[in-house]
Amino acid sequence: MSGAREDGVGRARVSVLLDADWAAGSLVADVRRGLGSAPLRLPPKWLYDDVGSDLFDQITRLPEYYPTEAERAILTDRAAEIVTASGATTVVELGSGTSDKTRTLLDAFAAADRLARFVPIDVSEGTLRAAAEELCARYPRARVEAIVGDFTLHLGQLPPNDPGAQRLVAFLGGTIGNFYVEERAAFLGALADSLDAGDTLLLGTDLVKDADRLVAAYHDPGGVTDRFVRNSLAVLNRELGADFDTGAFAYIPFWDPHLERMDLRLRAESPQRVRIPGAGLDLELAVGEEIQVEISAKFRLPGIAGELAAAGFDVVTSWTDAGHDYALTLARRR
Ligand code: SAH
Ligand code: AVI
Repeated sequence: MSGAREDGVGRARVSVLLDADWAAGSLVADVRRGLGSAPLRLPPKWLYDDVGSDLFDQITRLPEYYPTEAERAILTDRAAEIVTASGATTVVELGSGTSDKTRTLLDAFAAADRLARFVPIDVSEGTLRAAAEELCARYPRARVEAIVGDFTLHLGQLPPNDPGAQRLVAFLGGTIGNFYVEERAAFLGALADSLDAGDTLLLGTDLVKDADRLVAAYHDPGGVTDRFVRNSLAVLNRELGADFDTGAFAYIPFWDPHLERMDLRLRAESPQRVRIPGAGLDLELAVGEEIQVEISAKFRLPGIAGELAAAGFDVVTSWTDAGHDYALTLARRR
């Protein structure tokens, strides 16, 4: 982990791969690329400042947002099976957030006396540090080695296997659906490159279903998801001195049946001139012009197996919840 700054919270070791300059530089590049020409879009990692992470946590508790509880149900039923089938003693979690559901899995590893190390990785530093501290207390016999890092850039810096041991990489919550299809292939390929043969991936994916339920999951009546998506503009105002009027946009979530993804946009309700000095960019937005803030792709089981196979993973098992809303797939690095 060269170049990393290391410190600790409680017994947890925290390696920081993102420094303030890096974050600012990367945001500038993303904003120039995403808002510099049509179609206007922003990468989803900028949704997760402290405010955004807290709003996401609230989303997971909304009755309409079924993926969290569907994934938790599968983990509860299958955790012991996953421990045995993976053969792992290190659990790495990408985009770990609060690692709330992950505890169901980690409890099963600990109960089998197979939890030597837990490595949560997230861009959201405050959330990650708080989770790492709690996990140290919950699993006193395990090493907790948190990484403040970007899973689109830092997979090459995952800690190597302990001698003779294997890793399980958990990528939960359906976060893989927030990639565009070509990014997904690049991500899975990079992940496969960073693993050893025999390591496993536990991948959570939301499944294609009735459009009404999908739209409801992203359009709660209390407006939590609206605030989560809109917060992206507040991040640009704060980090890049932009002057977005965050109230001048309508939140437009819709299901795209051809690309099988939710598409979450902000639509200008009046003509706007937005200055983004930190990125050296001025935006002229006509009424009705949209910024795509996030996509959330939904999957089918054969497609998941195909994408994993193309990247070098063999599916061991896929499980769904009782309502077939959501899938967890265990796959082994060839
Ligand atoms: N795994 C949790 C959280 C999902 S929300 C769950 O299942 O509920 C997505 C998480 O991924 C957030 O915590 C966010 O901060 C993190 N994240 C988003 N983009 C990231 C990136 N490029 N690198 C690392 N973490 C990222
Ligand atoms: C983290 N990710 C899988 C969530 C999703 O469902 O795509 C983010 C989210 N966006 C709006 N609601 C939830």
